[in-house]
Amino acid sequence: MSSTPITVLITGANKGLGLEMVRQLAEDKGRVKKLFACCRDPDGPTAEALQTLAKKFPEIIVIVTMDVTEQNSIQEAAKVIAPLLGSGGLNLLVNNAGLGLESSLQTTTTKDMQDSFNTNVIGPMNIMKEFLPHLQTAAKASKISGMSCNKAAVINISAMDGSMDVTKETYSYMAILPFRVSKAALNMLTVCAAEEMKKDKILCSVLHPGWVRTDTGGPEAEIDAQTSVKGMLKVMSTMKDKHNGAFLDYEGSAMPW
Ligand SMILES: NC(=O)c1ccc[n+]([C@@H]2O[C@H](COP(=O)([O-])OP(=O)(O)OC[C@H]3O[C@@H](n4cnc5c(N)ncnc54)[C@H](OP(=O)(O)O)[C@@H]3O)[C@@H](O)[C@H]2O)c1
Repeated sequence: MSSTPITVLITGANKGLGLEMVRQLAEDKGRVKKLFACCRDPDGPTAEALQTLAKKFPEIIVIVTMDVTEQNSIQEAAKVIAPLLGSGGLNLLVNNAGLGLESSLQTTTTKDMQDSFNTNVIGPMNIMKEFLPHLQTAAKASKISGMSCNKAAVINISAMDGSMDVTKETYSYMAILPFRVSKAALNMLTVCAAEEMKKDKILCSVLHPGWVRTDTGGPEAEIDAQTSVKGMLKVMSTMKDKHNGAFLDYEGSAMPW
């Protein structure tokens, strides 16, 4: 990604795409200086693979407790991370944690929708707000002239299911209404944040990871996590000013809003 190692924060890093992203970044020698792998239960059974990975890369991976739906938890995580960032700030924030509830208009409850918005929209918004000063520091400290994920960037992991156009074609066999509505809101949040942060030269974009075999994607999905993450990291490495506020998939193709 860069000749200068960067600092990265990934949410939902204990399994699925988040864990695979931590793995690929840590294994890419010299790419990352510090990687803050955030998850809500670092000492629980679902974080065992992350703990093992962190022991393999003790200089790089720092596991941090963060429940993206809890403002206090985000602030406490920031208190742990801030002193470890140094003068270079935070180069890359990946809002990866997500909640994928399967239900239709008839079956979705108020709580389903609130939980989906708390995780998929309000969480990313609060995390962006909390870490904005550190992204600004990174943007100022970087010698890279244009926007870049090596300089200062927020990548929000959304879904093609949040696309209005795609939903017209796919809703009849896959409702997932709270997921679609909240990911569409995450897309709008990204465009708004991109407009607001462009004065600071902080890039902000949305990625669709593909349909991936994880707990969210299910066993019938088209690709494995390794392929998805390899693709997303490649796409991130090519992003520049013209990709600010863009919606791309893991192969770099533009997605319809
Ligand atoms: N897989 C696909 O086909 C697909 C397609 C489109 C978009 N996506 C998106 O890709 C991202 C990663 O999903 P995945 O496929 O890797 O699914 P996954 O294996 O189910 O992982 C979801 C991650 O989000 C975390 N998470 C959920 N709620 C959280 C909270 N309140 N605080 C902190 N972490 C929380 C989970 O942590 P716990 O283990 O603690 O629950 C887990 O680490 C999500 O945003 C998802 O919507 C996936």
